[in-house]
Amino acid sequence: MKFTVLTLFPEHVQAGLGASVIGKALERGILELSCINIRDFAGNKHNQVDDYPYGGGAGMVMQPGPILRAYESIQPRPKRVVYLTPQGKTFDQEMAFSLAREESLVFLCGHYEGVDERIIDRIVTDEVSIGDYILTGGEMAAMVMIDAIGRLVDGVLSNSSSYENESFHQGLLEYPQYTRPAAFEGQEVPEVLLSGHHGNIDRWRREQALVRTLRKRPDLLEKAELTEKDREFIRNYCKENGIVL
Ligand code: 6GU
Repeated sequence: MKFTVLTLFPEHVQAGLGASVIGKALERGILELSCINIRDFAGNKHNQVDDYPYGGGAGMVMQPGPILRAYESIQPRPKRVVYLTPQGKTFDQEMAFSLAREESLVFLCGHYEGVDERIIDRIVTDEVSIGDYILTGGEMAAMVMIDAIGRLVDGVLSNSSSYENESFHQGLLEYPQYTRPAAFEGQEVPEVLLSGHHGNIDRWRREQALVRTLRKRPDLLEKAELTEKDREFIRNYCKENGIVL
């Protein structure tokens, strides 16, 4: 999978993704990252890439020319161009899976008050936000997306089960995890996990995932993949604890 980032801060993006699991996958060539500096395509003596907004108002707007030229320097050009903006569709795990199926992706990072609307009309296929708050630029949002998408690419994680059991995969939060010591300053690991009985452990974990989701993120239960047994467990749990869904 190849990621190309159009940005005014290529070193930030390169540094931000150079660490950890994604950095390793880049070194191993499973993922590729190319950061293109939009300023290199300014085409004027002062390397200026922004200008005052027509109609007046605060701030500066990124001009379409440098962005288009930076985009046209990409070979071959991917099908999807993601523009990072608080106005976009909110990024979630489902979108991460969908984007992870692409062979390559372009991320356009805006700054100042945004980019000239004509660039959005002309090259952007997906407008994406990472949540309801405002960042100073799209770089951190692009890094968040590349991290989330990149780890879904085959071979990036050590085994596929590393994401198949985790939060959001079946739309549920993850069950609690424990490691040694079995007793830590009076806090004990749940006995079932020490029992070696895999059937009981699996059932306990499933129930913990259901209870956690019910308690912390009940909104997720509507979209979760639940069996009839799961539903029955939830009904009983709610009845016993006086929870009304
Ligand atoms: Cl994608 N960009 C910016 N600038 N701010 C954001 C965002 C993106 N998502 C949330 N806030």
